[in-house]
Amino acid sequence: MSSMPMAQSPEILCRVLEHKDVPIVASLFCSAFVSLENEVSRAEERIENEVSGAVVATVDDQVIGALFFDLKFEGYRKALYIEQVAVFPHCRRLGACSSLLDWSAGVASQFGCHYIFLLVRNENVDAISCYERNGFVVRDSGVIAPRSEDPKIIRMECDLTSTRQLFPGLLRQKL
Ligand SMILES: CC(C)(COP(=O)(O)OP(=O)(O)OC[C@H]1O[C@@H](n2cnc3c(N)ncnc32)[C@H](O)[C@@H]1OP(=O)(O)O)[C@@H](O)C(=O)NCCC(=O)NCCS
Repeated sequence: MSSMPMAQSPEILCRVLEHKDVPIVASLFCSAFVSLENEVSRAEERIENEVSGAVVATVDDQVIGALFFDLKFEGYRKALYIEQVAVFPHCRRLGACSSLLDWSAGVASQFGCHYIFLLVRNENVDAISCYERNGFVVRDSGVIAPRSEDPKIIRMECDLTSTRQLFPGLLRQKL
């Protein structure tokens, strides 16, 4: 895709990831996450075979961002877990991540989830700020560290019982 700056306030549409989107989404995630750098084919394989749910944000049918999710039970409570989300650098601050979170909230609601949660590195202030803007709050700080060399990981949650105002698209979602 072109890396020309986007016009301000473009119309952002979200839809389920399709097979044709896999290469662009793999390259997006490889550029966004250092751990995947130079592993586009591995990322493509992972998207095809391991990702449970995926949604893309588009402008003029060009993919500008993507989000992977899974549905999980924590005790007796059902949750939507956001595994990964990324937006191309030249398309940031246009609302793409917010649209993806909005779409996810619609899915979570339709599946009867109580809340949405995600894990984020505490140094990732851009992402944390975006999640806070979209109704997420920090639930656990520094208690989850999958590998000891990892910086602290924060768990953030969005309670779906109080999100209808924050996610205006929630009631008009069509999957
Ligand atoms: C985090 C990320 C997905 C945000 O995507 P985005 O589409 O730019 O986010 P949005 O445009 O929906 O942002 C909504 C709000 O979040 C906050 N926000 C987002 N990015 C921000 C930044 N760089 N600095 C400060 N606030 C920010 C702002 O409040 C923003 O609203 P505003 O632009 O009206 O001020 C994007 O920065 C990204 O892809 N980062 C690299 C990958 C990554 O870290 N993913 C998260 C892993 S847990």
